[in-house]
Amino acid sequence: MRVIGLMSGTSHDAIDAAVADITLDGDALVLRPLGHLSVAYSPGVRDLIAASLPPATTTVNAITALDAGIGRAFAAVADRALREICHDTADLVVSHGQTVFHWVDEGAVRGTLQLGQPAWIAEVTGVPVVSDLRSRDIAAGGQGAPLVAMLDALLLGGLPGTPAALNLGGIANVTVVAPGADPLAFDTGPANALLDAAVVHFTDGAADYDEDGRMAASGQVDTALLTALLADPYYRRPAPKSTGKEHFHLPYLLRAMEGLPPVTAEDTMATLTRLTAVTVADACRAHGVTDLVVSGGGTRNPLLMNMIGQQLPDVRLRLSDEWGLPSQAKEALAFAVLGFLTVHGVPGTLPSATGARRAALLGSITPGVAPLRLPEPAEAAPRVLRIEP
Ligand SMILES: Nc1ncnc2c1ncn2[C@@H]1O[C@H](COP(=O)(O)OP(=O)(O)O)[C@@H](O)[C@H]1O
Ligand SMILES: [Mg+2]
Repeated sequence: MRVIGLMSGTSHDAIDAAVADITLDGDALVLRPLGHLSVAYSPGVRDLIAASLPPATTTVNAITALDAGIGRAFAAVADRALREICHDTADLVVSHGQTVFHWVDEGAVRGTLQLGQPAWIAEVTGVPVVSDLRSRDIAAGGQGAPLVAMLDALLLGGLPGTPAALNLGGIANVTVVAPGADPLAFDTGPANALLDAAVVHFTDGAADYDEDGRMAASGQVDTALLTALLADPYYRRPAPKSTGKEHFHLPYLLRAMEGLPPVTAEDTMATLTRLTAVTVADACRAHGVTDLVVSGGGTRNPLLMNMIGQQLPDVRLRLSDEWGLPSQAKEALAFAVLGFLTVHGVPGTLPSATGARRAALLGSITPGVAPLRLPEPAEAAPRVLRIEP
């Protein structure tokens, strides 16, 4: 089955599309990635997202405009993937949409909202769409995140030691597979969320992110600020747990800086980069991780990658590209896999990862142009992953 996965993470920088031919072969999930593309949001949509995210307040009118605007933007990217990568034929589109709120209350997730109305995608491509993948896990008592744990667990299951997958998006999340134990997955804290917010603040909006970590590299870590940031109880909460930009935003950073001696922009950036490295490393050490498979936009920040390496001298760090999963498209591929599982009647979550009472079938299905026909349900969930070139 040819599947297009669509994803935009909390950084709301771009819509990532990844295409794969996916099949089931006995107990193996066979994944053949065919290509991916990443298309930046238009400034209009991006500004509307930024203006609507917490702690800002918004209106139902703005939410409606966002749902349609993001839906149209996702549809345009799906259409490009269909034409440029799929030679005009695909069986399924799986759309994560754009998270605008992940509602965490005392550690429990009460709801989550991903915008990007799938009707636009189905209308433009003519292909059925699986969307809203997180809500069902939340209804089953889970965190609804990190959902990449399913693909990660299949990938890591074949590796020696205690391997983990780390994605450095707006938020950092890990999946850990210790021998003989059920997979664990959780958000460790911010990866780029605070870095991006601080850069926008310090440059008055001239830059969206600290390109190649240059600003941070010209500063020094401020111990008092790092200590203040590390005091956040989130880091000490046991897994399963998830978080988002409703928690890690600019006012959060400015509050942490209040009452401390002034810190320069460069030193703040260095400190925030170290914060990500320390919290990722603490999470890895707590679970005895020996090998780390890294993906996400944060892998393009050499300072961040070096700092993580320094914090974990005994852990082998490698990019997911080494396994045939492009580090900038791994999440989009993971969602392609989740939608594929849904239409084959296979749950996409691991209760040990999200904390749900049971593994649920994920998502909502929007028909394409033809009557909806689903494949025969799979006899069993896949247990191993085979990635073919
Ligand atoms: N060259 C780079 N240098 C530093 N940071 C980068 C670079 N390229 C991307 N990033 C960071 O990666 C983020 C996007 O990563 P991504 O994996 O798409 O996150 P998300 O899943 O939250 O959208 C950007 O917002 C930026 O912070
Ligand atoms: Mg992104």
